[in-house]
Amino acid sequence: MKIRPAEHDDVHTIVRIIAHYASQGLMLPRSHGAMAANLPHYLVADLDGQVIGCGGLEPYSADVAEIYGLATAPGSSARGTGSAIVQALIEKARSDNLSKVFALTLAPRFFEKMGFKTVEHKDLPMKVWRDCVACPKYGNCDEIAMVLDLN
Ligand SMILES: CC(C)(COP(=O)(O)OP(=O)(O)OC[C@H]1O[C@@H](n2cnc3c(N)ncnc32)[C@H](O)[C@@H]1OP(=O)(O)O)[C@@H](O)C(=O)NCCC(=O)NCCS
Repeated sequence: MKIRPAEHDDVHTIVRIIAHYASQGLMLPRSHGAMAANLPHYLVADLDGQVIGCGGLEPYSADVAEIYGLATAPGSSARGTGSAIVQALIEKARSDNLSKVFALTLAPRFFEKMGFKTVEHKDLPMKVWRDCVACPKYGNCDEIAMVLDLN
């Protein structure tokens, strides 16, 4: 398996993987248009030419970014796919000189294993004021905010 930048031909597969979990309320859905527009933010896990996972790094400020759109293909049995994608996103963040990455997630134990710490939503004001205020879950959010300090 290799982790590589997402390409235009991957858009359909990435949208399909995310839609699977979005239908279970585990992730927010992403349209083809939104995915194509944000493609440079995304990495994919590629196993023999098949995309089996994806994840992106969305910049919030000069030194903070969110890990988002992280998912592995339903039914994929390749263990370590999610952590390989997150590790590559962390390396990307370090090479961009970011000081912090964060995630909002329903899988906090997975991120804990990657070294992330739980914080309060109010500790991520840039996320709250940019996205959360417009989210239907605002005020009743079940996602856990998690941060990894890169310094
Ligand atoms: C969360 C997800 C990306 C993890 O990917 P994965 O390929 O299954 O994870 P890995 O195989 O790299 O697992 C690394 C470790 O985390 C653990 N882990 C994986 N998913 C976990 C979860 N949901 N809860 C708790 N622990 C989890 C694994 O057991 C493994 O532990 P180990 O090292 O002790 O064996 C994947 O399960 C997924 O797509 N989930 C649905 C979508 C989702 O919730 N995305 C996160 C949105 S922010």
